[in-house]
Amino acid sequence: MRLTQCHNFQDFRTLARKRLPGPIFNYIDGAADDEVTYRANTSAFDRCDLLPSVLTGVEEVDMSVTVMGQKLDMPIYCSPTALQRLFHHQGERAVAAAAEKYGTMFGVSSLGTVSLEEMRKKHKTPQVYQFYFHRDRGLNKAMMQRAKEAGVDVMMLTVDSITGGNRERDKRTGFSIPFRLTLGGMIQFAMKPMWGINYVTHEKFRLPQLEEHVDMGGGASSIGGYFSEMLDPSMNWDDVAEMVADWDGQFCLKGIMTAEDARRAVDIGCTGIVLSNHGGRQLDGSRTPFDQLKEIVDAVGDDIDVIMDSGIQRGTHVLKALSLGAKAVGGGRFYLYPLAAAGQKGVERALGLMHAEIERSMKLMGVTSLDQLSPENLRFR
Ligand code: LAC
Repeated sequence: MRLTQCHNFQDFRTLARKRLPGPIFNYIDGAADDEVTYRANTSAFDRCDLLPSVLTGVEEVDMSVTVMGQKLDMPIYCSPTALQRLFHHQGERAVAAAAEKYGTMFGVSSLGTVSLEEMRKKHKTPQVYQFYFHRDRGLNKAMMQRAKEAGVDVMMLTVDSITGGNRERDKRTGFSIPFRLTLGGMIQFAMKPMWGINYVTHEKFRLPQLEEHVDMGGGASSIGGYFSEMLDPSMNWDDVAEMVADWDGQFCLKGIMTAEDARRAVDIGCTGIVLSNHGGRQLDGSRTPFDQLKEIVDAVGDDIDVIMDSGIQRGTHVLKALSLGAKAVGGGRFYLYPLAAAGQKGVERALGLMHAEIERSMKLMGVTSLDQLSPENLRFR
């Protein structure tokens, strides 16, 4: 299979699986426990149907949205994700360049492999900085200061990762940073020599957001270990209120799932919330963001920008979420499989296909701008 034969999410996934060593593919593809929530995220969109209007004149459609003060040329952005240069040596550089080409927002993670400063200098489209709340309060302040100086547009605090999710696929392969592979995991790497050659012939793997502060080189500091050793499980609303006030700009919480928490986010001065279950990677059995969307938009939609991620694979999924009141949606695996499959060209193709799907679906729905969508355009079965 080649990139030009990829026409949808599943095709990119197939190509990524072919190119990546098993432990890395399974890190992206896997989720928590029985992966029930992971599967539910996408199937949630199938429980309702779109109701199109016809004969409305749809020659020109405008799919731009404004979310947390950022104008995006399309309503889906590339969510911040960790470790991108492990998936393809271009990593964040590929994702940011492709996002810029399509005029959408991209994220750099605190577990990112390219520095947030480099990305901010190179690209014009809005940049989100994803960060965690560490036990070391000085580190939190230093990270915010650095993001401020770099000119980050939106701060995104992950609130659903107070401890690591139970990723059983990673346990089986020994996926960790640095690698502490099990024998089975090593054999899987040996089966993809091209990945290995690429990895060793490009810039050394780094975590530039954290390396000055955290010794990620000592011991097998797995993602789970980072969560349990470095992050502060005592984080509460007062701590976050202080951060929001310190930042004094666009600030959103990723991982909100109840109307009550959404209201608290408004009360502490957040400008956005991302309904998310972390792509099913944290609490298995958690409800899907799409199923929770209407309740939360009804509760706080006038006071804060409601965004959702988790499970979005199609342009019609985006339209369904926007019909229920989401201002924009985020995608993770949506661009990570394409990144793994073909670097920048892969991400550009995924964004291009998504752009075409959204445009086509808007025309078929009889709308020329996304604010014409409403719950009236949907019926649940
Ligand atoms: C994950 C974290 C790092 O889902 O966001 O693996």
